[in-house]
Amino acid sequence: MVVDHKIAVVTGANRGIGHEICRQLAKLNIQVVLTSRNREKGEAACKLLRDENLDVLYHQLDVTDEKSIHDFCDNIQEVYGRCDILINNAGIFPEVKDTSDDVKTSVFSSELKCVHRAMETNVYGPLLLCQEMVPLMRTHQYGRIINISSSLGQLATMNAGFPAYRISKTALNVLTRILASELKEENIIVNSMCPGWCRTDMGGPQAPRSVEEGAETAIWLATLPDDGPRGGFFKDKQRIEW
Ligand SMILES: NC(=O)c1ccc[n+]([C@@H]2O[C@H](COP(=O)([O-])OP(=O)(O)OC[C@H]3O[C@@H](n4cnc5c(N)ncnc54)[C@H](OP(=O)(O)O)[C@@H]3O)[C@@H](O)[C@H]2O)c1
Repeated sequence: MVVDHKIAVVTGANRGIGHEICRQLAKLNIQVVLTSRNREKGEAACKLLRDENLDVLYHQLDVTDEKSIHDFCDNIQEVYGRCDILINNAGIFPEVKDTSDDVKTSVFSSELKCVHRAMETNVYGPLLLCQEMVPLMRTHQYGRIINISSSLGQLATMNAGFPAYRISKTALNVLTRILASELKEENIIVNSMCPGWCRTDMGGPQAPRSVEEGAETAIWLATLPDDGPRGGFFKDKQRIEW
């Protein structure tokens, strides 16, 4: 089956901001492929959107598993023949749940395994996905890649606390810059964005923003016109400092 309408892939979409991004893209009649590392959770999340009459498909994808990424991308190519939008949303904040207070606050107590885990999910996953998906985007000379980063990865305001998460999100922004540079002559637009502090499992119930607000800039970037901004870091649809 080769389709002629836009296909969007969203990683880590069984809950939180990724799930809301799927909802909002599907409302724009974009064919959404909702992915999650856990099939059961992903299928349940997909059903929630289908119950809202949204045409959302499900596929398993663990962004820390190279084989899972490769099989997934092969399947997208075979079934749809295209990937127009890639939202690298899946993320972990290892210092939130897994570690002692010291590790949350001081780089001197930071455990390397924690940094490794953050890099695997937040950086290497998006890198591998881009390596697999950009060739497919090139066949249609169309692509929008959105890396969901965080202001905690912003060098301009870099501070102590949460070193693994910060290092990984800064590195994700570096990936955005490199990709955007390599793709500067093509209609494949790559940007980073910060959703702001949102009420999700990661953000916690005290966060000031809803998932709808967190997803808004991602939808804007995913639907940019060909002459839209590229190679930037955005929050609330405004360019912010790296
Ligand atoms: N919430 C905030 O305040 C905030 C602020 C700035 C940036 N962000 C960024 O926004 C993105 C979404 O955050 P969120 O608040 O929606 O977080 P969340 O509620 O914790 O959801 C994270 C999602 O990522 C998935 N995930 C984790 N590891 C994965 C893997 N190896 N493969 C595939 N999926 C994986 C989780 O799946 P499981 O259910 O299987 O764990 C879950 O679906 C993240 O990149 C985060 O860093 C969030």
